Amino acid sequence: MALERTHPGTSARTGVVWEVLSAGLAERSARTGSGELAVVDLGGGTGGFAVPLARLGHRVTVVDPSPDALAALERRAAEAGVSERVRAVQGDLGGVLDAVDAECADAVLCHGVLEVADDPAEGMSAAGRVLRPGGIASVLAANRDALVVARALGGNVAGALAALREPVRRRFTEDALVELVRQAGLAVASRHGVRLFADLVPSAEPDDPDLLALEVLTAGRPEFRALATQVHVLAARPE
Ligand SMILES: C[S@@+](CC[C@H](N)C(=O)[O-])C[C@H]1O[C@@H](n2cnc3c(N)ncnc32)[C@H](O)[C@@H]1O
Repeated sequence: MALERTHPGTSARTGVVWEVLSAGLAERSARTGSGELAVVDLGGGTGGFAVPLARLGHRVTVVDPSPDALAALERRAAEAGVSERVRAVQGDLGGVLDAVDAECADAVLCHGVLEVADDPAEGMSAAGRVLRPGGIASVLAANRDALVVARALGGNVAGALAALREPVRRRFTEDALVELVRQAGLAVASRHGVRLFADLVPSAEPDDPDLLALEVLTAGRPEFRALATQVHVLAARPE
């Protein structure tokens, strides 16, 4: 079965993250003088980011507890001809230092995994320790505020109020996510909203280039990003 899907840089759902991450990696490459960076993708699943990053020439270790996801990742890497640059390791976010060495990575990806971790603060802290000084972290998590809007738009006004008043498990406000990242010893470089229009526009086509442009142009603007489905934070471990 062919696993190759849309490149994350051309989808309105992932284009913003790909763009911010690619720029961060290019900057890291310029600083280190190496085009081949060590990337650790925590909860990287089937390799939606890992394989394209390997195709750019980076060495990517995916740490994920799911044997099925790791098997799909290996097939996808083989189909893309990058098996030698992709390593699949079974493990979880909180125990990542049992799976990889501390300070082994130029970049850590933590996309859609803090929501499923038993202890997000412990997980984020472990992710930070995987980074070399100067390394970057790309952190993506579900936005609590988008849930408020989604529930209200769906007619569940009481649910929207509840989401606003009480902390919602597995969802983060932008400030809460930024605080988690800072508590892990990382310095926040940028914040973006992800999947605002891609999720709000009825029958949106993720590969529509206009939709992608709309996402990219609004993602960094506070008045738009507050309501996006996901919050993205790019951060760096101080040198
Ligand atoms: C929503 S998917 C995100 C996949 C990928 N990072 C992405 O953005 O497309 C969540 C992934 O986290 C993995 N996962 C679940 N619990 C985890 C844990 N405690 N530590 C690390 N990964 C976990 C799942 O197996 C799954 O691959």
